[in-house]
Amino acid sequence: MQPRVLVTKRIYPEAIEYLREHCEVDYADSDDGLAADELKQRMRGKQAIVSQLVDKFTASVIDSLDGVKIIANVAVGFDNIDVPAATRKGILVTNTPDVLTETTADFAFALLLAAARRVVEGHQFVHAGEWRKWRIDLLVGQDVHHRTLGIFGMGRIGQAVARRGRGFSMRIVYHDAVRAPEPVERELALDFVSKEQLLREADFVSLHVPLLDSTRKLIGEPELQLMKKTAILVNTSRGPGVDEAAVAKALAEGWIAGAGLDVFEREPEVNPALLRLKNVVVAPHIASASVDTRREMSKLAARNAVAALEGRRPPTLLNPEVWDSVSSPKGS
Ligand code: DGY
Repeated sequence: MQPRVLVTKRIYPEAIEYLREHCEVDYADSDDGLAADELKQRMRGKQAIVSQLVDKFTASVIDSLDGVKIIANVAVGFDNIDVPAATRKGILVTNTPDVLTETTADFAFALLLAAARRVVEGHQFVHAGEWRKWRIDLLVGQDVHHRTLGIFGMGRIGQAVARRGRGFSMRIVYHDAVRAPEPVERELALDFVSKEQLLREADFVSLHVPLLDSTRKLIGEPELQLMKKTAILVNTSRGPGVDEAAVAKALAEGWIAGAGLDVFEREPEVNPALLRLKNVVVAPHIASASVDTRREMSKLAARNAVAALEGRRPPTLLNPEVWDSVSSPKGS
């Protein structure tokens, strides 16, 4: 009998074709996702689940799983899955790193540039028929080149953003719980600084941290107060990393000059106070959304699921300890 996999939400067809070559696929071919009850019911009798960031795999959901070998998330972030609970239960968990690094960094830079140079305001101004004459200070913004870029989180995406910053002759400062390897710091001319120094010195502050207890509300009122009045905040990581109400207040009261936000605390809701402001560019969680990248993310999740079902180590495994315990014979 073929193994059975549940795909909780629409993904790219190439990934579904690949899964169908290797398994029996229960495909929720819709963008709506499955409500908790339906998810629970359709997970029964499945050995693999291909999930997305809106599927919540809490400890109690994971404890209710029976016979599931792998949860293959179609995202690099995995804050929707209680990985320690999955590990206790002996379930492999995978994500989709690397394939989205450059695409996400492109979009972080797009938001940075759009907010700094007021691209969206300019677009709306022209569309509204308000452009009647050239003016010396019409929609003047902030320079990007030769300014200081402050990056929270110097992992793969943080480094890709730093490379883009180097292309704009920017000085790069960063802060992270773990310092980047020395060759990386040297190659990208990175200055490792304290959180406070980063906030005080950066003209652009960009977040590239996973969502953890320690990174929740990493940017709140105290942090925004430390930033320059001309600074711009960019978030393409996870919404709860910034206190949205505090950002709206900071933007309205001029503590900072602008923001570019792709992620929000309660997606798809956006704090209405933010939407009333002109100095924020918002996007609907699309930093990794290029055709090629979203296809590659789908395919990688499918490859992870099939590998686990065929007894091979999934390529991008988050809890190798589960693999070690299932793959090594008892007592060896
Ligand atoms: C991720 O991969 O974690 C993004 O947020 C969605 O692509």
